[in-house]
Amino acid sequence: MKVFKKRKLISLILSLLFLGFFSYRKINSRVSHRFPASSNIMQPAVELGEVWTSEDRTNSDEITQIIGNALEQRTAGVTLMKRDAHPKHHGCLKAFFQIDSHQLPLEQQVGVFSKENQKEFLAWIRFSNGDPDSTKADADGDVRGMAIKLMNVNNSASGSQDFLLMNSKTFFIKDSAEYLDLMQSIDSTISLGWFFLTHSHDRQILLAARGMKVGNPLDVNYFSATPYKLGGTTMKFSAKPCLINRTPEGVSKNPTHNFLRENLVKSIGKSEACFDFFIQRNTSPETMPIENPTVEWSEVKSPFIKVATIHIPIQSGSDSEELMNYCENLSFDPWHTLPEQRPLGAINRIRLQAYSEISKKRHLHNRIPQIEPRNHEACNRETQELCQNR
Ligand code: HEM
Repeated sequence: MKVFKKRKLISLILSLLFLGFFSYRKINSRVSHRFPASSNIMQPAVELGEVWTSEDRTNSDEITQIIGNALEQRTAGVTLMKRDAHPKHHGCLKAFFQIDSHQLPLEQQVGVFSKENQKEFLAWIRFSNGDPDSTKADADGDVRGMAIKLMNVNNSASGSQDFLLMNSKTFFIKDSAEYLDLMQSIDSTISLGWFFLTHSHDRQILLAARGMKVGNPLDVNYFSATPYKLGGTTMKFSAKPCLINRTPEGVSKNPTHNFLRENLVKSIGKSEACFDFFIQRNTSPETMPIENPTVEWSEVKSPFIKVATIHIPIQSGSDSEELMNYCENLSFDPWHTLPEQRPLGAINRIRLQAYSEISKKRHLHNRIPQIEPRNHEACNRETQELCQNR
Protein backbone atom coordinates (compact mmCIF):
# COMPACT_ATOMS: atom_id res chain seq x y z
CA MET A 1 0.00 0.00 0.00
CA LYS A 2 2.85 2.35 1.02
CA VAL A 3 4.76 1.57 -2.22
CA PHE A 4 1.64 2.26 -4.23
CA LYS A 5 1.16 5.68 -2.56
CA LYS A 6 4.82 6.56 -3.13
CA ARG A 7 4.55 5.64 -6.84
CA LYS A 8 1.43 7.73 -7.16
CA LEU A 9 3.19 10.69 -5.56
CA ILE A 10 6.24 10.37 -7.84
CA SER A 11 4.04 10.15 -10.92
CA LEU A 12 2.08 13.25 -9.76
CA ILE A 13 5.32 15.22 -9.27
CA LEU A 14 6.60 14.08 -12.68
CA SER A 15 3.38 15.13 -14.42
CA LEU A 16 3.43 18.51 -12.67
CA LEU A 17 7.03 19.03 -13.78
CA PHE A 18 6.09 18.02 -17.31
CA LEU A 19 3.09 20.38 -17.35
CA GLY A 20 5.25 23.20 -15.99
CA PHE A 21 7.87 22.58 -18.66
CA PHE A 22 5.21 22.43 -21.35
CA SER A 23 3.55 25.72 -20.36
CA TYR A 24 7.00 27.35 -20.05
CA ARG A 25 7.76 26.19 -23.60
CA LYS A 26 4.37 27.41 -24.78
CA ILE A 27 4.86 30.88 -23.29
CA ASN A 28 8.43 31.09 -24.53
CA SER A 29 7.57 30.04 -28.06
CA ARG A 30 5.22 33.02 -28.15
CA VAL A 31 7.93 35.22 -26.67
CA SER A 32 10.90 34.20 -28.71
CA HIS A 33 9.55 34.91 -32.16
CA ARG A 34 8.84 38.49 -31.13
CA PHE A 35 11.56 39.59 -28.73
CA PRO A 36 15.19 38.70 -28.01
CA ALA A 37 15.54 36.19 -25.18
CA SER A 38 17.69 38.61 -23.15
CA SER A 39 14.89 41.16 -22.86
CA ASN A 40 12.50 40.93 -19.92
CA ILE A 41 9.89 42.87 -21.87
CA MET A 42 7.30 40.16 -21.25
CA GLN A 43 7.44 40.55 -17.49
CA PRO A 44 4.95 43.01 -16.00
CA ALA A 45 6.86 46.03 -14.63
CA VAL A 46 5.57 45.73 -11.04
CA GLU A 47 8.15 48.30 -9.89
CA LEU A 48 6.31 50.84 -12.09
CA GLY A 49 2.86 49.94 -10.77
CA GLU A 50 1.88 47.29 -13.31
CA VAL A 51 -0.49 44.57 -12.06
CA TRP A 52 -1.15 41.35 -14.01
CA THR A 53 -3.02 38.60 -12.18
CA SER A 54 -3.98 35.09 -13.28
CA GLU A 55 -7.54 36.44 -13.70
CA ASP A 56 -6.22 39.10 -16.12
CA ARG A 57 -4.47 36.35 -18.08
CA THR A 58 -7.66 34.29 -18.32
CA ASN A 59 -9.66 37.39 -19.30
CA SER A 60 -7.11 38.20 -21.99
CA ASP A 61 -7.39 34.66 -23.45
CA GLU A 62 -11.16 34.93 -23.49
CA ILE A 63 -11.20 38.45 -25.01
CA THR A 64 -8.84 37.41 -27.81
CA GLN A 65 -10.98 34.33 -28.43
CA ILE A 66 -14.17 36.43 -28.66
CA ILE A 67 -12.51 38.94 -31.04
CA GLY A 68 -11.21 36.09 -33.22
CA ASN A 69 -14.60 34.34 -33.35
CA ALA A 70 -16.42 37.58 -34.19
CA LEU A 71 -13.94 38.23 -36.97
CA GLU A 72 -14.44 34.76 -38.42
CA GLN A 73 -18.23 35.16 -38.32
CA ARG A 74 -18.02 38.56 -40.00
CA THR A 75 -15.71 37.15 -42.67
CA ALA A 76 -17.75 34.02 -43.44
CA GLY A 77 -18.23 33.94 -47.21
CA VAL A 78 -16.02 36.99 -47.75
CA THR A 79 -12.56 36.72 -49.31
CA LEU A 80 -10.84 39.46 -47.37
CA MET A 81 -10.50 39.32 -43.59
CA LYS A 82 -10.00 42.89 -42.44
CA ARG A 83 -8.79 44.10 -39.04
CA ASP A 84 -11.24 43.61 -36.18
CA ALA A 85 -10.71 47.17 -34.95
CA HIS A 86 -9.91 50.17 -37.15
CA PRO A 87 -10.59 48.23 -40.40
CA LYS A 88 -11.38 51.29 -42.54
CA HIS A 89 -8.33 53.29 -43.59
CA HIS A 90 -8.17 56.64 -45.31
CA GLY A 91 -4.66 56.15 -46.62
CA CYS A 92 -1.10 55.13 -45.82
CA LEU A 93 1.30 58.06 -45.99
CA LYS A 94 5.08 58.19 -46.26
CA ALA A 95 6.54 60.27 -43.43
CA PHE A 96 9.79 61.27 -41.72
CA PHE A 97 9.97 61.10 -37.92
CA GLN A 98 12.65 63.50 -36.73
CA ILE A 99 13.71 63.02 -33.09
CA ASP A 100 14.88 65.96 -31.01
CA SER A 101 14.40 64.98 -27.38
CA HIS A 102 16.88 67.38 -25.78
CA GLN A 103 14.04 68.88 -23.66
CA LEU A 104 13.77 65.58 -21.75
CA PRO A 105 15.97 65.02 -18.68
CA LEU A 106 19.07 63.00 -19.68
CA GLU A 107 17.95 59.86 -17.81
CA GLN A 108 14.70 59.86 -19.83
CA GLN A 109 16.40 60.17 -23.21
CA VAL A 110 16.10 56.44 -23.78
CA GLY A 111 15.12 53.97 -26.47
CA VAL A 112 14.08 55.70 -29.63
CA PHE A 113 14.53 59.05 -27.81
CA SER A 114 18.14 58.28 -26.84
CA LYS A 115 21.16 60.42 -27.82
CA GLU A 116 22.14 57.96 -30.58
CA ASN A 117 18.71 58.32 -32.15
CA GLN A 118 18.62 62.13 -32.59
CA LYS A 119 17.94 61.57 -36.27
CA GLU A 120 15.26 61.12 -38.87
CA PHE A 121 13.51 57.75 -39.11
CA LEU A 122 11.61 56.69 -42.22
CA ALA A 123 7.98 56.07 -41.26
CA TRP A 124 4.56 54.99 -42.53
CA ILE A 125 1.36 56.43 -41.10
CA ARG A 126 -2.05 54.76 -41.39
CA PHE A 127 -5.14 56.87 -40.61
CA SER A 128 -8.30 54.92 -39.75
CA ASN A 129 -11.83 54.78 -38.32
CA GLY A 130 -12.22 52.58 -35.24
CA ASP A 131 -15.60 50.93 -35.85
CA PRO A 132 -15.41 47.18 -36.65
CA ASP A 133 -17.83 47.84 -39.51
CA SER A 134 -15.63 49.09 -42.36
CA THR A 135 -18.61 49.87 -44.60
CA LYS A 136 -19.85 52.77 -42.45
CA ALA A 137 -19.82 56.31 -43.82
CA ASP A 138 -17.17 58.66 -42.44
CA ALA A 139 -19.96 61.04 -41.40
CA ASP A 140 -21.15 58.50 -38.81
CA GLY A 141 -19.58 59.24 -35.46
CA ASP A 142 -16.45 57.19 -34.89
CA VAL A 143 -13.13 56.96 -33.08
CA ARG A 144 -10.27 58.14 -35.34
CA GLY A 145 -6.91 56.36 -35.32
CA MET A 146 -3.37 57.24 -36.31
CA ALA A 147 -0.81 54.42 -36.44
CA ILE A 148 2.85 55.35 -36.97
CA LYS A 149 5.56 52.86 -37.89
CA LEU A 150 9.21 53.92 -37.58
CA MET A 151 11.41 51.64 -39.69
CA ASN A 152 14.95 50.28 -39.25
CA VAL A 153 15.00 50.77 -35.49
CA ASN A 154 18.14 49.18 -34.04
CA ASN A 155 17.53 46.65 -31.26
CA SER A 156 13.81 46.34 -31.94
CA ALA A 157 13.04 42.66 -32.50
CA SER A 158 10.52 43.47 -35.23
CA GLY A 159 12.80 46.16 -36.69
CA SER A 160 10.05 48.73 -36.11
CA GLN A 161 8.83 51.10 -33.44
CA ASP A 162 5.07 51.52 -33.75
CA PHE A 163 3.08 54.26 -32.02
CA LEU A 164 -0.73 53.78 -31.96
CA LEU A 165 -2.89 56.78 -31.19
CA MET A 166 -6.56 57.74 -31.10
CA ASN A 167 -8.53 60.99 -30.80
CA SER A 168 -9.05 60.67 -27.04
CA LYS A 169 -6.77 61.38 -24.09
CA THR A 170 -8.19 58.39 -22.22
CA PHE A 171 -9.30 54.87 -23.13
CA PHE A 172 -12.91 54.05 -22.28
CA ILE A 173 -12.29 50.76 -20.47
CA LYS A 174 -10.43 50.56 -17.16
CA ASP A 175 -9.30 46.93 -16.87
CA SER A 176 -9.45 43.38 -18.23
CA ALA A 177 -12.64 42.39 -16.35
CA GLU A 178 -14.55 45.38 -17.72
CA TYR A 179 -13.21 44.75 -21.24
CA LEU A 180 -14.38 41.13 -21.02
CA ASP A 181 -17.80 42.35 -19.81
CA LEU A 182 -18.04 44.61 -22.85
CA MET A 183 -16.94 41.86 -25.26
CA GLN A 184 -19.49 39.45 -23.79
CA SER A 185 -22.31 41.97 -24.21
CA ILE A 186 -21.43 43.10 -27.71
CA ASP A 187 -23.67 40.58 -29.53
CA SER A 188 -26.87 41.75 -27.88
CA THR A 189 -28.22 45.30 -28.15
CA ILE A 190 -29.87 44.95 -24.73
CA SER A 191 -26.68 43.78 -22.97
CA LEU A 192 -24.61 46.42 -24.75
CA GLY A 193 -27.12 49.10 -23.80
CA TRP A 194 -27.04 47.84 -20.21
CA PHE A 195 -23.22 47.91 -20.21
CA PHE A 196 -23.09 51.59 -21.20
CA LEU A 197 -26.04 52.47 -18.96
CA THR A 198 -24.15 51.10 -15.97
CA HIS A 199 -20.74 52.51 -17.01
CA SER A 200 -21.40 56.23 -17.45
CA HIS A 201 -17.73 57.33 -17.35
CA ASP A 202 -16.84 54.83 -20.12
CA ARG A 203 -19.83 56.04 -22.12
CA GLN A 204 -18.79 59.68 -21.83
CA ILE A 205 -15.22 58.97 -23.04
CA LEU A 206 -16.45 56.92 -26.01
CA LEU A 207 -19.16 59.40 -26.99
CA ALA A 208 -16.73 62.34 -26.82
CA ALA A 209 -14.29 60.59 -29.18
CA ARG A 210 -17.02 59.38 -31.55
CA GLY A 211 -18.79 62.74 -31.55
CA MET A 212 -15.74 64.79 -32.57
CA LYS A 213 -16.28 66.55 -35.91
CA VAL A 214 -13.37 65.67 -38.19
CA GLY A 215 -12.97 67.07 -41.71
CA ASN A 216 -9.49 65.70 -42.42
CA PRO A 217 -7.39 63.13 -40.48
CA LEU A 218 -4.48 65.60 -40.72
CA ASP A 219 -6.31 68.07 -38.44
CA VAL A 220 -6.89 65.83 -35.41
CA ASN A 221 -5.05 65.73 -32.03
CA TYR A 222 -4.17 62.11 -31.32
CA PHE A 223 -3.20 60.44 -28.00
CA SER A 224 -1.76 57.10 -26.84
CA ALA A 225 -4.56 56.94 -24.21
CA THR A 226 -2.70 54.15 -22.40
CA PRO A 227 0.67 54.42 -20.59
CA TYR A 228 4.13 53.33 -21.75
CA LYS A 229 7.53 52.90 -20.17
CA LEU A 230 10.11 55.68 -20.38
CA GLY A 231 13.29 54.17 -18.97
CA GLY A 232 12.82 54.19 -15.18
CA THR A 233 9.54 56.07 -15.33
CA THR A 234 6.34 56.07 -17.41
CA MET A 235 4.68 58.25 -20.03
CA LYS A 236 1.80 58.81 -22.40
CA PHE A 237 2.34 60.34 -25.85
CA SER A 238 0.49 62.49 -28.33
CA ALA A 239 0.69 63.80 -31.92
CA LYS A 240 -0.77 67.22 -32.74
CA PRO A 241 -0.93 68.90 -36.14
CA CYS A 242 1.61 71.73 -36.54
CA LEU A 243 -0.92 73.38 -38.88
CA ILE A 244 1.82 75.20 -40.81
CA ASN A 245 0.31 76.28 -44.12
CA ARG A 246 -3.08 74.78 -43.35
CA THR A 247 -6.33 75.65 -41.66
CA PRO A 248 -8.42 72.76 -40.28
CA GLU A 249 -11.06 71.51 -42.71
CA GLY A 250 -14.66 71.45 -41.58
CA VAL A 251 -17.22 68.80 -42.50
CA SER A 252 -19.27 69.83 -45.54
CA LYS A 253 -23.10 69.87 -45.43
CA ASN A 254 -23.42 66.86 -47.70
CA PRO A 255 -20.33 64.78 -47.01
CA THR A 256 -19.52 61.86 -49.32
CA HIS A 257 -19.26 58.32 -47.96
CA ASN A 258 -15.43 58.37 -47.84
CA PHE A 259 -14.81 62.10 -47.51
CA LEU A 260 -11.94 61.63 -45.00
CA ARG A 261 -9.97 59.65 -47.54
CA GLU A 262 -10.82 62.14 -50.33
CA ASN A 263 -9.84 65.18 -48.25
CA LEU A 264 -6.65 63.52 -47.04
CA VAL A 265 -5.52 62.55 -50.54
CA LYS A 266 -6.42 65.94 -52.00
CA SER A 267 -4.61 67.98 -49.32
CA ILE A 268 -1.42 65.88 -49.20
CA GLY A 269 -1.27 65.98 -53.00
CA LYS A 270 -1.09 69.79 -52.81
CA SER A 271 0.90 70.66 -49.68
CA GLU A 272 3.03 68.95 -47.05
CA ALA A 273 1.69 68.26 -43.56
CA CYS A 274 3.31 68.04 -40.17
CA PHE A 275 2.65 66.81 -36.62
CA ASP A 276 4.52 67.61 -33.40
CA PHE A 277 5.07 64.50 -31.30
CA PHE A 278 4.94 64.95 -27.51
CA ILE A 279 5.59 62.96 -24.36
CA GLN A 280 3.74 63.43 -21.07
CA ARG A 281 5.91 62.17 -18.20
CA ASN A 282 4.44 60.57 -15.11
CA THR A 283 5.30 63.04 -12.35
CA SER A 284 2.72 61.81 -9.84
CA PRO A 285 2.23 58.01 -9.75
CA GLU A 286 -0.65 58.36 -7.25
CA THR A 287 -2.77 60.49 -9.58
CA MET A 288 -1.34 59.19 -12.87
CA PRO A 289 -1.99 55.45 -12.57
CA ILE A 290 -0.51 52.79 -14.84
CA GLU A 291 -3.55 50.61 -14.39
CA ASN A 292 -6.87 52.27 -15.33
CA PRO A 293 -6.37 54.26 -18.57
CA THR A 294 -9.78 55.94 -18.08
CA VAL A 295 -7.96 58.36 -15.75
CA GLU A 296 -6.66 61.47 -17.49
CA TRP A 297 -3.14 62.56 -16.53
CA SER A 298 -3.14 66.24 -15.51
CA GLU A 299 -1.39 68.53 -17.98
CA VAL A 300 -0.99 71.07 -15.18
CA LYS A 301 1.07 68.59 -13.18
CA SER A 302 2.90 67.40 -16.29
CA PRO A 303 2.65 69.30 -19.58
CA PHE A 304 3.37 67.53 -22.85
CA ILE A 305 7.02 67.96 -23.95
CA LYS A 306 7.91 67.96 -27.65
CA VAL A 307 10.34 65.18 -28.60
CA ALA A 308 9.92 64.84 -32.37
CA THR A 309 8.49 66.35 -35.54
CA ILE A 310 6.65 64.27 -38.12
CA HIS A 311 7.04 65.56 -41.68
CA ILE A 312 4.60 64.25 -44.27
CA PRO A 313 5.82 65.34 -47.71
CA ILE A 314 3.57 66.07 -50.68
CA GLN A 315 2.67 62.74 -52.25
CA SER A 316 0.27 61.42 -54.81
CA GLY A 317 -1.51 58.10 -55.23
CA SER A 318 -1.95 57.44 -51.49
CA ASP A 319 -5.35 55.93 -52.29
CA SER A 320 -4.18 53.90 -55.31
CA GLU A 321 -5.35 50.28 -55.23
CA GLU A 322 -1.79 49.09 -54.52
CA LEU A 323 -1.28 51.45 -51.59
CA MET A 324 -4.71 50.72 -50.12
CA ASN A 325 -3.81 47.00 -50.25
CA TYR A 326 -0.41 47.75 -48.72
CA CYS A 327 -2.14 49.62 -45.88
CA GLU A 328 -4.52 46.67 -45.42
CA ASN A 329 -1.66 44.18 -45.17
CA LEU A 330 0.66 45.99 -42.77
CA SER A 331 0.54 45.23 -39.04
CA PHE A 332 0.74 48.12 -36.61
CA ASP A 333 1.19 46.81 -33.08
CA PRO A 334 2.08 48.70 -29.88
CA TRP A 335 4.32 45.75 -28.98
CA HIS A 336 6.53 46.38 -32.03
CA THR A 337 8.75 48.36 -29.71
CA LEU A 338 12.07 48.92 -28.04
CA PRO A 339 12.02 47.59 -24.45
CA GLU A 340 12.74 51.09 -23.06
CA GLN A 341 9.30 52.40 -24.10
CA ARG A 342 7.15 49.31 -24.14
CA PRO A 343 3.42 49.40 -23.36
CA LEU A 344 2.33 49.14 -19.71
CA GLY A 345 -0.82 48.12 -17.84
CA ALA A 346 -3.40 45.34 -18.21
CA ILE A 347 -5.20 46.93 -21.18
CA ASN A 348 -1.91 47.08 -23.09
CA ARG A 349 -1.03 43.56 -21.99
CA ILE A 350 -4.28 42.28 -23.55
CA ARG A 351 -3.15 44.02 -26.72
CA LEU A 352 0.09 42.01 -26.61
CA GLN A 353 -1.95 38.88 -27.23
CA ALA A 354 -4.79 40.32 -29.33
CA TYR A 355 -2.82 42.24 -31.97
CA SER A 356 -0.38 39.46 -32.83
CA GLU A 357 -3.06 36.74 -32.89
CA ILE A 358 -5.57 38.78 -34.92
CA SER A 359 -2.93 40.01 -37.36
CA LYS A 360 -1.70 36.42 -37.81
CA LYS A 361 -5.26 35.19 -38.33
CA ARG A 362 -6.10 37.74 -41.01
CA HIS A 363 -2.77 37.29 -42.83
CA LEU A 364 -3.26 33.50 -42.86
CA HIS A 365 -6.82 33.87 -44.10
CA ASN A 366 -5.80 36.36 -46.80
CA ARG A 367 -2.74 34.28 -47.73
CA ILE A 368 -0.47 37.32 -47.38
CA PRO A 369 2.85 37.11 -45.51
CA GLN A 370 3.44 39.27 -42.43
CA ILE A 371 6.28 41.54 -43.49
CA GLU A 372 7.70 44.56 -41.68
CA PRO A 373 8.60 47.26 -44.22
CA ARG A 374 12.09 48.80 -44.31
CA ASN A 375 11.62 51.75 -46.66
CA HIS A 376 9.20 53.98 -48.52
CA GLU A 377 9.05 51.80 -51.61
CA ALA A 378 5.68 50.30 -50.87
CA CYS A 379 5.54 47.69 -53.58
CA ASN A 380 9.21 46.83 -54.04
CA ARG A 381 10.65 43.34 -54.12
CA GLU A 382 10.45 42.70 -50.36
CA THR A 383 6.96 44.09 -49.86
CA GLN A 384 5.53 43.41 -53.31
CA GLU A 385 3.11 40.82 -51.98
CA LEU A 386 1.58 43.34 -49.57
CA CYS A 387 0.26 45.34 -52.51
CA GLN A 388 -1.75 42.46 -53.91
CA ASN A 389 -5.43 41.92 -53.38
CA ARG A 390 -6.60 38.37 -52.54
C1 HEM B 1 -7.77 45.88 -24.76
C2 HEM B 1 -7.75 46.93 -25.56
C3 HEM B 1 -7.63 46.82 -27.05
C4 HEM B 1 -7.84 45.77 -27.88
C5 HEM B 1 -8.26 44.34 -27.52
C6 HEM B 1 -7.57 46.22 -29.24
C7 HEM B 1 -7.65 45.45 -30.37
C8 HEM B 1 -7.24 45.82 -31.63
C9 HEM B 1 -7.11 44.94 -32.76
C10 HEM B 1 -7.41 43.44 -32.73
C11 HEM B 1 -6.66 45.67 -33.81
C12 HEM B 1 -6.36 45.14 -35.22
C13 HEM B 1 -4.94 44.57 -35.23
C14 HEM B 1 -4.56 43.92 -36.55
O1 HEM B 1 -5.31 43.08 -37.06
O2 HEM B 1 -3.47 44.24 -37.09
C15 HEM B 1 -6.53 47.02 -33.35
C16 HEM B 1 -6.13 48.07 -34.12
C17 HEM B 1 -5.95 49.34 -33.65
N1 HEM B 1 -6.09 49.79 -32.35
FE1 HEM B 1 -6.65 48.69 -30.78
N2 HEM B 1 -7.24 47.55 -29.19
C18 HEM B 1 -7.25 47.96 -27.87
C19 HEM B 1 -6.95 49.19 -27.38
C20 HEM B 1 -6.54 50.25 -28.14
C21 HEM B 1 -6.14 51.54 -27.61
C22 HEM B 1 -6.03 51.90 -26.12
C23 HEM B 1 -5.83 52.31 -28.67
C24 HEM B 1 -5.37 53.73 -28.53
C25 HEM B 1 -4.43 54.28 -29.17
C26 HEM B 1 -6.02 51.52 -29.90
C27 HEM B 1 -5.80 51.95 -31.18
C28 HEM B 1 -5.79 51.13 -32.30
C29 HEM B 1 -5.45 51.60 -33.63
C30 HEM B 1 -5.08 53.02 -34.04
C31 HEM B 1 -5.55 50.47 -34.47
C32 HEM B 1 -5.29 50.42 -35.97
C33 HEM B 1 -3.84 50.01 -36.21
C34 HEM B 1 -3.53 50.00 -37.69
O3 HEM B 1 -3.62 51.06 -38.33
O4 HEM B 1 -3.22 48.90 -38.20
N3 HEM B 1 -6.45 50.27 -29.52
N4 HEM B 1 -6.89 47.09 -32.02
